[in-house]
Amino acid sequence: MDGYTFRLERPDDYAAVEAVTREAFWNVYKPGCDEHYILHTMRGDPAVIEELNYVCEAPNGEICGHIFYTRTKVVSEDQIVYPVISFGPISVHPACQRLGIGSNLIRISLDKAKEMQFSGVLITGNPQYYHRFGFRQAADYGIVADDGSSFSELMAVELMEHTFASVHGRIWFCQQFSQIDPDALSRFDEQFPPKARMKLQGQLS
Ligand SMILES: CC(C)(COP(=O)(O)OP(=O)(O)OC[C@H]1O[C@@H](n2cnc3c(N)ncnc32)[C@H](O)[C@@H]1OP(=O)(O)O)[C@@H](O)C(=O)NCCC(=O)NCCS
Repeated sequence: MDGYTFRLERPDDYAAVEAVTREAFWNVYKPGCDEHYILHTMRGDPAVIEELNYVCEAPNGEICGHIFYTRTKVVSEDQIVYPVISFGPISVHPACQRLGIGSNLIRISLDKAKEMQFSGVLITGNPQYYHRFGFRQAADYGIVADDGSSFSELMAVELMEHTFASVHGRIWFCQQFSQIDPDALSRFDEQFPPKARMKLQGQLS
């Protein structure tokens, strides 16, 4: 990790961050990806927590990693709203993966989130990777997806002790993550170097 530095993202990093995100996610979970476009559409949105969005700068000064946080909420059956936070996308350029950059981005930002007194974090991702940071299946805390389903990829970590003891309900992630206009995504993607969308084994869709 010598020579790699971690700092908060600045507006003049946005283009580089979107390019790294596209490189990291391309063809991983589906043919192509939309995570770089989601970042783009969320710039300036009040749900974004700029104080937690860190980048990693490689020794040559180029951005090679990024983590993105948003405010979200858990809503109980009797409509009580519990504010929580979420991160994702998290991206490390394929040329720099498995050096510890992703782990550092997560640890640094979780420490800062704790310092800022956020209560807990909910994410979706691969449990094998996130359990090492203290994440547990959200259903263990009585937190389920917006459609009421529970699955191992929906995970939570408490930033304050027992924070989720009294928080039960459905998690509502920002709508921008699920409502993507495919034509707008295609137009946005034209500004990046062309890449082939491929159907590969292991993709989710
Ligand atoms: C996931 C990602 C951010 C991890 O960053 P990284 O800097 O490569 O990770 P680190 O070097 O900190 O950690 C490497 C460890 O994570 C594991 N790992 C990395 N990506 C993983 C994944 N998607 N699922 C499960 N484990 C993963 C590696 O096997 C390695 O495990 P080991 O230490 O037991 O060998 C990076 O691989 C990436 O950008 N992937 C593509 C985009 C993506 O999938 N983002 C996360 C969406 S949930």
